[in-house]
Amino acid sequence: MNKILLAPSILSANFACLGKDINKVLSAGADLIHFDVMDNHYVDNLTIGPMVLKSLRDYNITAPIDVHIMAKPVNSLIPKFAKAGANFITIHPESTEHIDYTLQLIRDCGCKAGLALNPSTPINFLEYVMDKLDLILLMSVNPGFGGQSFIPSTLNKLKIVKKKISKGNYDIFLEVDGGINIDNINDVILSGANILVMGSAIFNNINVYDIVKKIKLKLNNFYKNI
Ligand code: DX5
Ligand code: ZN
Repeated sequence: MNKILLAPSILSANFACLGKDINKVLSAGADLIHFDVMDNHYVDNLTIGPMVLKSLRDYNITAPIDVHIMAKPVNSLIPKFAKAGANFITIHPESTEHIDYTLQLIRDCGCKAGLALNPSTPINFLEYVMDKLDLILLMSVNPGFGGQSFIPSTLNKLKIVKKKISKGNYDIFLEVDGGINIDNINDVILSGANILVMGSAIFNNINVYDIVKKIKLKLNNFYKNI
């Protein structure tokens, strides 16, 4: 079985010490950093933009950064995030008039392209763009805020998308975002995910290093038992 990657979401981090907190989760074994961009338009929250991403790169954070854009319109942001140091850029289909164009734009800017589906967004949005995707993100909460509960119907959606990826032999990461914690990790992995985004379950702890170590241990034991 392929490696399961852990992507701490900095949405729940303390922004006053972002660089330090990111270094803590990375030194404990986090694989990539999930960077949530919100515009108070596509979602009811306002977060961070390309300047913050560039600051993290200037702070010598070299780990892959997974930019999840919940903003509309989205196209003009893509070259800015690419220039600031993004590795993955994931967009929502509702944030662009032309999904194929936007995914190609992400790749043309030198990044890996992802498409994020909200809990109520049908999977047929994937139909004609599978060859333009490096990542599919299934939202397991409605986008906008950390600390919400995992929506159980995501597990079935995950299995369907996982089958679609395997059947077409695509090289596409399957990421799940929202409400993941140490107790539901197994269900999420068994349903097909290979990137787990975790925000509050990591950053709402005083010792983020220890909690990431504990999650990674669980992931490693998961391989042994499978
Ligand atoms: C929500 C964001 C998530 C969020 C997840 O719109 O996309 O990345 O940080 O937070 P938790 O893990 O607390 O649900
Ligand atoms: Zn996210």
